[in-house]
Amino acid sequence: MSITENPVIGASHAELLGRDEINDIEAILSVVNTDVDEVTHVVKDNADAIFTWDYSLARPHLRKLYEKAKTGQWNGSTDLPWDTEVDQEKVVAEIQAQIGTGMEPAQYIGTPVEKWGDKEWLQFGVEQNNWTLSQFLHGEQGALLCTAKIVETVPWYDAKLYASTQVVDEARHVEVFGRYLDTKLSGHYPINAHLKLLLDDIVNDSRWDMTYLGMQVMVEGLALAAFGFQQQLTSEPLLKQLLRYVMSDEARHVAFGVLSLKEVYDGMTDREMMDRQEFAFEAAVRMRDRFLSQEVWDRMGINPKDVLPLVLADPTRVMFQQMLFSKIVPNCKKLGLLDRNDKWLRHRFEEMNVIQFEDWEDTAEEYVKFALDADAPADAGPRVPVAGQ
Ligand SMILES: [Fe+2]
Ligand SMILES: [Fe+2]
Repeated sequence: MSITENPVIGASHAELLGRDEINDIEAILSVVNTDVDEVTHVVKDNADAIFTWDYSLARPHLRKLYEKAKTGQWNGSTDLPWDTEVDQEKVVAEIQAQIGTGMEPAQYIGTPVEKWGDKEWLQFGVEQNNWTLSQFLHGEQGALLCTAKIVETVPWYDAKLYASTQVVDEARHVEVFGRYLDTKLSGHYPINAHLKLLLDDIVNDSRWDMTYLGMQVMVEGLALAAFGFQQQLTSEPLLKQLLRYVMSDEARHVAFGVLSLKEVYDGMTDREMMDRQEFAFEAAVRMRDRFLSQEVWDRMGINPKDVLPLVLADPTRVMFQQMLFSKIVPNCKKLGLLDRNDKWLRHRFEEMNVIQFEDWEDTAEEYVKFALDADAPADAGPRVPVAGQ
């Protein structure tokens, strides 16, 4: 960073998101998955594959993570109780009894949802369950591809070693979420359009650190919080254990991102940092948009346009959605992304109402707590928020 540099001006919302207002429902809904029947999806990967001939131990913190990964492996076929009988409606009903539908029915007066009875809300919960696990599955495949890419593109030997273990972890995650959906739930959903756009952007970017920022810090940071909620809420023993195991891996993955990028970002110019700040904001909004689960409303026969403005304002929903950023914001702060360039990303996170997490624990070391051999609590991760507290 040079003091003679002119201040770097960040891109506008329109340039980054294709809309001026982050809550512009028409614009959010105009992003749709145009080919839900495609079997393969091709994304141009622009990055160089890099060899290194420096095999020295240059980054002991990454090597420590690598050693931890080797002993933290588990087998998705034999370590989980797949013979568990899952009554999906019963599981969903129990969760709804704990936290309601995740939304406040009184908010929906004047919409077609007002007429919904218990049967429709239960069906909505079941669809939401299928949708959520389907998006986990697609996100896991995104992580598999991104981490394979990191093995090729990161110039550091220690990072290549670690990333190779994450490739195996992600394969296992795709395997277990896929199996759970196929054998225990009642339907798949195609990838959400906003998630797809984000994964495409991450894979497409030529800069190796952007893969880390998009996947390890943003997507996996959010996944760790989302898995934590599901893990606490469900009483279904197979899913509870599955998520506990997956989280022990994900905590390492997020740590890998934070530990690696810290070194890189500390030396970056303002312009380079602004590119990363913009990317982090764009990723955060796309993930927020995906959690509006527009496809579930469609499947329930409700026009998403009729309800999404209310969903966006629903206090229960807003609280859950904000909590999903409880890992991302402290990690962005640790990486110096919040306050560079006149606090650019801080202001964007203020606009998204998620800045309150900035001083929560970052996840550079949290993997120790989540490890399967650690004496971790059965319910790990951020606490499920309870309305009124
Ligand atoms: Fe994963
Ligand atoms: Fe992961």
